[in-house]
Amino acid sequence: MKGLILSGGRGTRLRPITYTSAKQLVPVANKPILFFGIEWMREAGITDIGIIVGDTHAEIKKACGDGSRWGVKITYIHQTEPLGLAHAVGTAQEYLQDSPFVVYLGDNLVKDGISTLVKEFENDRPNAQILLAHVKNPQEFGVAELEGDRIVRLVEKPKEPKSDLALVGVYMFDSTVWEAIASLKPSARGEYEITDAIQYLVTTGYNVRSHIVQGWWKDTGRLEDLLEANRLLLETQERSLNGEMDDASNAQGRVQIGKGTKVVRSQIRGPVVIGENCLIEDAYIGPFTSIQDGAQVVGSEVEHSILLENSKVLHIGGRMEDSLLGKDVEVRRDDRKPRAYRFMLGDNSQVNVI
Ligand code: G1P
Repeated sequence: MKGLILSGGRGTRLRPITYTSAKQLVPVANKPILFFGIEWMREAGITDIGIIVGDTHAEIKKACGDGSRWGVKITYIHQTEPLGLAHAVGTAQEYLQDSPFVVYLGDNLVKDGISTLVKEFENDRPNAQILLAHVKNPQEFGVAELEGDRIVRLVEKPKEPKSDLALVGVYMFDSTVWEAIASLKPSARGEYEITDAIQYLVTTGYNVRSHIVQGWWKDTGRLEDLLEANRLLLETQERSLNGEMDDASNAQGRVQIGKGTKVVRSQIRGPVVIGENCLIEDAYIGPFTSIQDGAQVVGSEVEHSILLENSKVLHIGGRMEDSLLGKDVEVRRDDRKPRAYRFMLGDNSQVNVI
């Protein structure tokens, strides 16, 4: 069994962060989303992993290298144009050849990993196996219509969904998928859809099996989903305190603090992860916050947020919530006169003031 992770997307819904960073490398619980996919594949015994890359190839290669860090062999495959998920899979035909394989969308997270599902697929050998999950907003996904256990129809982002069962971004195929991909025409949004390829397999009478995911699943394409994934992952982390904390500070519950980090006169209420060499001073860090290496929170309160490397929140005199700060971003109080908000924001930035 081989693995294929699709990591070519541009991440337009996460701008401005994705102007400078691939969406699959945005961290949740201080780990790039893409790394979870690689780890879950390795856990399932898959050590030959192809990663489809696009415009952000250099950054993804730099972050994942040859895979030896995880004990896997990573092969990078270029998708020259973003023509859809089925096109991306088609790009990897030479790499995958006749091997059965798992496709994993690089911005998806599934709580329980994929080991059991891969095992089932390997034992029972259907032509394809898909995962489904009940969602509140099915029109934003590929949607499945079932009759009992049988898949009747799959429609990509239907305006009027016939069910609330979304296609999760993890698919398993044998080599019949090549015939399905070769048969595709571009969809209304101009893409070769993986959903249509699976529909072809169903219509042609191949054995396509579906599973309803029991644990949580997240497509992290939007900020609120990213924060939610961060929350779900932090909930299960262990407590581990490194760095230095003074007597006037206190860390409650599932808190992780990295080496070289200083916590001074601050309250930290887990679950929270703070990386290395950070400064937390006269601050409150509330639940579901991930703070990456080198960041500073001084004279401020931060909750339910993600702060990337070297970002700073200084003396804001209030609480920041539901926020994502990119690398080297600064949010600070400014006492100059006249009193005014002063911004320098990149394209597509969002600021909510009170
Ligand atoms: C893609 C698929 C969709 C699937 C979703 C899961 O959508 O086209 O069928 O439900 O991933 O994350 P996209 O995220 O490309 O809009």
